[in-house]
Amino acid sequence: MTPAETLINSHRLSREEYAALLIKAEDEGTRELLKTEAVRLRRKYYGNKVFTRGLIEFTNYCKNDCYYCGIRCGNQKAERYRLTEEEILECCREGDKLGFRTFVLQGGEDAWFTDERMEKIIRRIKREFPDCAVTLSIGEKSYESYRKFREAGADRYLLRHETADEEHYRMLHPENMYLSKRKQCLYNLKALGYQTGAGFMVGSPGQTLETLAADLEFLQELKPQMVGIGPFIPHHGTKFANEKAGSVSLTLFLLSIIRIMLPKVLLPATTALGTVDPRGREKGLEAGANVVMPNLSPLRNRKQYDLYDNKICTGDEAAECRTCLARRVASVGYRLADERGDALE
Ligand code: 5AD
Ligand code: FES
Repeated sequence: MTPAETLINSHRLSREEYAALLIKAEDEGTRELLKTEAVRLRRKYYGNKVFTRGLIEFTNYCKNDCYYCGIRCGNQKAERYRLTEEEILECCREGDKLGFRTFVLQGGEDAWFTDERMEKIIRRIKREFPDCAVTLSIGEKSYESYRKFREAGADRYLLRHETADEEHYRMLHPENMYLSKRKQCLYNLKALGYQTGAGFMVGSPGQTLETLAADLEFLQELKPQMVGIGPFIPHHGTKFANEKAGSVSLTLFLLSIIRIMLPKVLLPATTALGTVDPRGREKGLEAGANVVMPNLSPLRNRKQYDLYDNKICTGDEAAECRTCLARRVASVGYRLADERGDALE
């Protein structure tokens, strides 16, 4: 049996088999086989529904200096902003009217947002919108902080592991960041009952088929309910300014593999994928993705949440984004679902 057939039959492979499968990324037969199976599985569990998450980028202050990221602390040129509690709630109100039932609070690692401030925001959102899920995406915190946020009502947490290979992790991050810590955070989040999301960029500098095989093996072990992957895109204010962007076709191939490995996974067609290819998100849905994450951040701050160059949707009102996405999703035979879209057991 080929690695592709083994994956379809047993939903898991060894690291060596993943590496052997990834060598076939440009093989038309392998691509089609995996894509067809990925779409069959997503239809089996989710029909033609695509879940939406309203993304609220509430602070671009960050204490970390990840080499790939435009809002890293060392980027003096980044124009910093943080939303007030009231502004965050206003984003949720607008999102609620538009039909969003999940709010994703995403930000840099910003010490201004202490545990107490975060808990208060989470409680207020959950009180005003009891039918909505709150997802946090605010980086590495202690077990105790994660526990407090969970108690305040947070339902889900996104924390991409970025790469599961130690040496590659060192190429992407300064010395004060550790892969082991990152992984521990993810296990803590799962233990606390969060629907947990891991993930990585495709085509980040230093990535190889071997590091990608390690990423897939890690996901297979962690079994996250959500996986976020999108192409790496260079940012002019980082040391990777002149590196090339990740490949769309490899991203699509990986989306199909991840859908087959974790059939019920919540898998977004990311903004980064839509940035490197005008039809990237549609292609993502056709490869096995089942989530889209339009932007609910205030228009005046959109451009400031500048992780990578040429990010799309920075000039569009939340309502326009939702309408635009509804049309894009429909163009490939799916429909936007007005529900929380929790992970299936
Ligand atoms: N290109 C693509 N994705 C990026 N991210 C950060 N910087 C970039 C970039 N230059 C991703 C990281 C992070 C998520 C919020 O955005 O994977 O986890
Ligand atoms: Fe934002 Fe299309 S999704 S404008």
